[in-house]
Amino acid sequence: MTQTYRPRRSVLYIPASNDKALAKLPSLACDAVIIDLEDAVAPADKIAAREKLAGIFADRPDRRCEMVIRVNALSSEWGADDLLAAAKCEPDGILLPKVGTPRDILEAGDVLDDNFVPDEVKLWAMIETPKALLNIGAIAELGRDPASRLDCFVPGTNDLVKETGILATPDRRYLVPWLMQMVLAARAGGLDILDGVFNDFRDADALARECAEAAAMGFDGKSLIHPAQIEAANRAFAPSAEAVAEARAVKDAFSRTENAGKGVIALNGKMVERLHLAQAEKLLAKAAAVGA
Ligand code: COA
Ligand code: MG
Repeated sequence: MTQTYRPRRSVLYIPASNDKALAKLPSLACDAVIIDLEDAVAPADKIAAREKLAGIFADRPDRRCEMVIRVNALSSEWGADDLLAAAKCEPDGILLPKVGTPRDILEAGDVLDDNFVPDEVKLWAMIETPKALLNIGAIAELGRDPASRLDCFVPGTNDLVKETGILATPDRRYLVPWLMQMVLAARAGGLDILDGVFNDFRDADALARECAEAAAMGFDGKSLIHPAQIEAANRAFAPSAEAVAEARAVKDAFSRTENAGKGVIALNGKMVERLHLAQAEKLLAKAAAVGA
């Protein structure tokens, strides 16, 4: 069975107000970028940043790199106009900040529908408020309804720290339970989910550790703030050579005539079930997509 996989290992925020950073777009090896109108843009620059969107999308690189726009919260003075301006660019996704309830997604979706924005323009949701965490199951459930356009969760870990008063520690011990809850909800809703950003962009070793941890936690990739972070994320969220070899062995074993129709077999002294075959096929599709 062929499975499609759209890599989102490395997703870089680029402030729409930063021309030098935007100029880097064609040379970046990330799977996706988020052109930001929200937290990375000062209030005085908000409107000028919005006005740049059309030009940024007109010069869209040919290379396959998803392009997402983060608008300001729809409850803010910029949100409604941001959403319309973003929709006109027909990006791969529009990232909604400060989501609290399923209604926030549905209302944004209604605006897109009313403006005849193609269904291919998806909605991504920042999970960064206590309310979003409390409603995470209901929000994620929208992923089961394609009409909602919901496609991806992005934890806003800096906002969560700010809103809850937890201590941000290097091992993220107070954040991890909430992050795991988000991963669980994303899977229940069939959504992708990225890990939050790593602020200390000069610390490559700590970033590599956090990326490896995020991959083990089940995230599809990591949201990033600096180009120097791309390579570590691409590496950490791609299947390792050992995992690929193991997946091939499982696939080969099930394709042998003597195993045809069997639900469970022994492979190198381990029990392997058909569910492992499905898992192996998924991993091989992912490896093929990223050249691992
Ligand atoms: N995307 C693309 N290019 C970027 C970039 C980004 N997110 N961050 C930095 N660069 C570019 C810089 O413009 C600079 O370009 P140059 O070589 O042409 O001068 C180069 O990478 C090196 O940048 P550096 O000097 O190391 O960093 P900086 O001090 O210019 O910027 C930050 C540091 C954190 C301010 C910047 O990385 C940034 O704004 N990141 C995104 C923040 C964001 O979007 N936050 C919202 C989500 S949490
Ligand atoms: Mg935020």
